[in-house]
Amino acid sequence: MATQRKLAKIADTKPSGSEIQAPKGKLGVMIPGMGAVATTFVAGVEAVRKGIAKPIGSLTQMGTIRLGKRTDARSPKIKEFVPLAGLDDLVFTGWDIFEDDMYTAATTAGVLERDLLDKVKPLLSSIKPRKAVFDHNYVKKIDGPNVKKGKNKMDLAEQVRADMRAFKKSSGATRLVTIWCASTESYIEQSAAHQSVKAFEKALTQNDENIAPSMIYAYASLMEGVPFANGAPNLTVDIPVMHELSRQNEAPICGKDFKTGQTLIKTILAPGFKARMLGLNGWFSTNILGNRDGEVLEDPGSFKTKEESKLSVLEHILQPELYPDLYGNFTHKVRINYYPPRGDNKEGWDNIDIFGWLGYPMQIKVDFLCRDSILAAPIVLDLVLFMDLAKRSAELRGIGIQEWISFYFKSPMTAPGLYPEHDLFIQLMKLKNTLRHLRGEELITHLGLEYYD
Ligand SMILES: NC(=O)c1ccc[n+]([C@@H]2O[C@H](COP(=O)([O-])OP(=O)(O)OC[C@H]3O[C@@H](n4cnc5c(N)ncnc54)[C@H](O)[C@@H]3O)[C@@H](O)[C@H]2O)c1
Repeated sequence: MATQRKLAKIADTKPSGSEIQAPKGKLGVMIPGMGAVATTFVAGVEAVRKGIAKPIGSLTQMGTIRLGKRTDARSPKIKEFVPLAGLDDLVFTGWDIFEDDMYTAATTAGVLERDLLDKVKPLLSSIKPRKAVFDHNYVKKIDGPNVKKGKNKMDLAEQVRADMRAFKKSSGATRLVTIWCASTESYIEQSAAHQSVKAFEKALTQNDENIAPSMIYAYASLMEGVPFANGAPNLTVDIPVMHELSRQNEAPICGKDFKTGQTLIKTILAPGFKARMLGLNGWFSTNILGNRDGEVLEDPGSFKTKEESKLSVLEHILQPELYPDLYGNFTHKVRINYYPPRGDNKEGWDNIDIFGWLGYPMQIKVDFLCRDSILAAPIVLDLVLFMDLAKRSAELRGIGIQEWISFYFKSPMTAPGLYPEHDLFIQLMKLKNTLRHLRGEELITHLGLEYYD
C-alpha cells in the first residue's frame, strides 16, 4: 500500500527540478586497483585534456539529451545540461598490490600504444599506488608486495580512511569519489556479518572471513561520506550494511560489474529479439582473453562471481514467465578462457539459436574482436562524474543505490525486492529521464500523439 501511495505521488508530481550544488573545485578520483582499466581511464582523460584524443564512448562527454517536443530542436550536450565536473578538475589516486606507478602499470597492461603513453607520461608516472588491503584467499591467482598490515580488519579500514583524508588534503580536492577497478574476488554470499552496521563493525574487529577486501574499501569510503561505484562483480556494496551506511552518510552507491564486451552486445540483441517475439533455444558465449583479469578469472572462485553476474542478464530481459512459448526453455552458457597471446584484446563468440514463425530455427553468430579496457574506460569516466553529481544532488544523495545508472552495469543494483532492468535502451531512457527530472524538464514518453492534433 505504502509503495502504491509513493508511486501515485511520484506520478502526480509535476517536474520542478531539484537543488544541485555547483561542482566547485577539484574532484578527487580514488581507484582501488591500478590495472588495465584504471590506467586506460586515467591516460585517456589526460589525452583528452591535452587535445590529442576524443572521449569516444563516453555519454557524459559526447551524448546529447532531447528536451521538449521533437519540433523544439532542443538537444543540448548532457555535460551542458547537468552541472558535471569538468575533465580539467579531475585528480587521481589509487591502491594496488604491485608497486608500479601508473605509467609502468599501463605499459604492463599493454592496452595503449607507447607513443600515446609517452605523451601523458608526466601525469601517469606521478600516480603511485598506495598500499592495498589484500587477502590472497579472495584472489588466488595473484600476489604482490604493496600490502597494508594491521592488527585487524577494522585497523585496515582506518588506514584506508586515513589515505582518503590525506589525498583530499594533498590534492586540494573539494569532493571525492571511489571506483573499484581491482580484481574479481572469490564468490561469497551474504552472511550475518553483512546485515547491519553494528554486526559489520564487530566482524571487522574480529577479522571475520566473510569480509572481503573490497568491502573494507567500501566501508572506508562510505564512512567518509564518499560515493562508491563497484566495477567488478564482487558482492562489496550489495549487502544491507552498505545500503544503510550509504543512506545514513549520504554517500551514493552503484554497481556492479562494468557492462562492456559480450554482455553489452547481449543486452543490445536480446531486447530486439523480444521486441519482435522471436524465440530463443540457446545462447552459447565463449571468450578468449589474455590480460591479468583473464588470469584471475581462471580461478574457479573468481569465475563463479563473474558467471553469476553474466548469466542473470537474459532471464531478466526475456521474462520467460511472461513468454513461456518463446523463452521458457533456453540454454545459456558462458565460458571464459585465459589465453595469454590475446592480451587485453579479447575475442568473444556468441552462437545464438533463435526460432521464428511456426517454430522454424535460425542461427546468429557474433564474433566480437573487442578491447576490454577501451570499452571500460569511458564507463569509469561517466560513473565518476554521475556519482559526483548524485552526491551534489539534494534528491539523490540520500537514497543509497543509484539505479538510474544501471546503464553501465552487467548486474545492476536495485532496491531489495525489485528486479533489475537489463535492457540497454530502457536503462538509457531511465538515465536520461532522471536527468530531465533533476532539471525540471518534462519526461519523454515517446507517445507523440500531440504531433497529430
Ligand atoms: N575491462 C573490462 O571490460 C571489464 C568489464 C567488467 C568488469 N571488469 C572488472 O574490472 C576489474 C579491473 O579489470 P582490469 O582488466 O583492469 O584488471 P587488472 O587485473 O588489469 O587490474 C586489476 C588490478 O587490481 C589489483 N588488485 C587486486 N586486488 C586488489 C586489492 N584488494 N586492492 C588493490 N588492488 C588490487 C591487481 O593487482 C591489478 O593490478 C576486474 O575486476 C574486472 O573483472 C572489467
